[in-house]
Amino acid sequence: MATNRTFTMIKPDAVSNGHIGAILNDITSAGFKIIALKYTRLTNETAGAFYAVHKERGFFGELVDFMSSGPIIAAILEKDNAIEDFRKLIGATDPTKAEQGTIRNKYAKSIEANAVHGSDSDENAQIEGNFFFSGLERF
Ligand code: RTP
Ligand code: MG
Repeated sequence: MATNRTFTMIKPDAVSNGHIGAILNDITSAGFKIIALKYTRLTNETAGAFYAVHKERGFFGELVDFMSSGPIIAAILEKDNAIEDFRKLIGATDPTKAEQGTIRNKYAKSIEANAVHGSDSDENAQIEGNFFFSGLERF
């Protein structure tokens, strides 16, 4: 069942480059409501658990090191058609292929340091949101 929610992270590159405010502004200007928001940091272990689906891929070790290299923002967002609309707003994984005006086009530096995460399905949005937040039934 579609929940109209997605989960996002502002990744360590965008946090350290000072883009938190601009990215949150792009997100809310596109009609997403912030349901939960947290400034935190992943460890190697928690980043590995979060990206466990990618553990067989060649870039897994680098991804885990990168995602635990500095603070991040984690957030749950709500909007009609949230998963698909948010993936459109952030653009392609590789910022050189991300459409003009998308968040990755504007703020990402490389295919790995690509500024933001966006859930790829309702099921994963729920799993990923629960990874960072509890008590969501209140919202
Ligand atoms: P995300 O899950 O972070 O929203 O990104 P995505 O769906 O667009 O891309 P995905 O295939 O799920 O990859 C997860 C993250 O791994 C890093 N990556 N590095 N070096 C590489 O070839 C490579 N490919 C992917 C990126 O940080 C990507 O967002
Ligand atoms: Mg993904």
